[in-house]
Amino acid sequence: MEMYRRTFAEISIENLLSNWQQIKNVAGDDRFICPMVKANAYGHGDVQTALALETVEADTVGVCLIEEGLLLRSAGVKSQILVFRGFDRHGAEKILEYQMTPVVSTWEQIQALESVADEPVKIHLKFNTGMNRLGFNIDQTEKLFTYFKNSKKLKLKALLTHFAQGEDAIFNDGFSAKQTKLFKEVVDYFKPLNTYAHLLNSGGIASQAYLKKENKTDGFLFQEKWGFRPGLALYGYQPHARFNEMNLKPVMTLKSVVNNIRTVTTGETVSYGCSWQAQRDSKIAIVPIGYADGFHRLISNKGHALFADKIVPVVGRICMDFLMLDVTDVIQGDDINKWIEEEVILFGYDDKLKLFPADDAAETSHTIVWETLTSVGERVPRHFKGLKKP
Ligand SMILES: Cc1ncc(COP(=O)(O)O)c(C=O)c1O
Repeated sequence: MEMYRRTFAEISIENLLSNWQQIKNVAGDDRFICPMVKANAYGHGDVQTALALETVEADTVGVCLIEEGLLLRSAGVKSQILVFRGFDRHGAEKILEYQMTPVVSTWEQIQALESVADEPVKIHLKFNTGMNRLGFNIDQTEKLFTYFKNSKKLKLKALLTHFAQGEDAIFNDGFSAKQTKLFKEVVDYFKPLNTYAHLLNSGGIASQAYLKKENKTDGFLFQEKWGFRPGLALYGYQPHARFNEMNLKPVMTLKSVVNNIRTVTTGETVSYGCSWQAQRDSKIAIVPIGYADGFHRLISNKGHALFADKIVPVVGRICMDFLMLDVTDVIQGDDINKWIEEEVILFGYDDKLKLFPADDAAETSHTIVWETLTSVGERVPRHFKGLKKP
């Protein structure tokens, strides 16, 4: 598509695949891994991410919505697609028609599948171990076991649960340990049905990487070959600052260019609400990206960007379509016109591979990197670097 505004998100397929390899290294052989490509692959482009993962023999991807799975199928994604959100009868029909795999969390979903399935259907069964969002409560274990032992139509392939606080999985007395203990009871109960089990999100995976490195492999994370469901780690971020065991590389670089530069004199203000006042004569770069692109307004007067190899502050309120940077110290006595169209990195890598991670944008907007990435708006084109044509 023609781009008249040079604001875009560059997606490095090379980094995505490198992160995948890092996760595989922690997993070792024969472990189920379901890379999560829900929410447009955390803003990175779900079709391209899923297709790229197929080139390295990832055979499963996870989505939240049936709609997301349908989009992947229509784009030619052949991997197993796990649908996590749940479904009604109509949704069950679509899941089966497009050869997706349902994650089942209620008896109603079981009934819906039973009523539409003409032939045996593979399913994954979710248990609630403390997240209290989706999944069967543990007290249903026996009843579910009996049901699946006898069901002709529904073939139970895997059991799963979800960590509420994966980053504490390095401790044997944390919430993750408690959840895993409960889950293990279920897994043991289902052993006669030969199912596998998955539960580790990025926090859990990073914990496992850390413990492996420390040679502390006698805890609950190593009791079974728990399957992995990486989201954030795949896109290059550590779920917690404490974890840097995997050499993850951010996949998205959010870029723009300087639209124009204004000189403001001491005492003048910048942007709506006059919230920033120049304490000296200043050079202000106007950058065509704003909160309508997902660069949150809370970042106003607090966040930063990478400009000409330097970290510079966002000044004044972020507008719908623009933000302003104080570049006084960078451009000094230069002719300001020389800097028009200069690249600005809101987060990610510059062309010298200097990294300015999305954590700054997340912290200054009082949120988490997950939200910062998924917030990058639809009107920001994604440019895929290194995507092989199928
Ligand atoms: C069921 C499920 N599994 C795995 C993940 C991946 O989590 P993370 O991005 O922390 O790796 C998510 C994300 O929210 C999820 O909902």
